[in-house]
Amino acid sequence: MTCVRFLKADGSFDREVEAPAGSRLLDIAQAAGQPLEGSCEGAMACSTCHVIVAAEDFDRLPPASDDEDDMLDLAAGLSRTSRLACQITLTEELGTLTVRMPGAVHDWNKR
Ligand code: FES
Repeated sequence: MTCVRFLKADGSFDREVEAPAGSRLLDIAQAAGQPLEGSCEGAMACSTCHVIVAAEDFDRLPPASDDEDDMLDLAAGLSRTSRLACQITLTEELGTLTVRMPGAVHDWNKR
């Protein structure tokens, strides 16, 4: 099990859910009622599954592919630790992962 902590766009805590290893972050986020449209369903043809990963967790994820980076460039509210939720597979080793919904004026990674 991986534990995913979801933060709202303003950085405040929303909820924490458990996810089985092997699940996609996008699916877990949608099941937890997070506002991620994910309109291309993981085909890397949109950026509506954009999330901002907590700085301390970002380096523990496998790096984004070039295609993911290209798509992220189009995402609103891009941050240094932005990722596409459809490209993140949760693994047992991750333990806890904290992600924030984009859209805040204030960037909590720059505090
Ligand atoms: S769902 Fe479209 S890029 Fe992730």
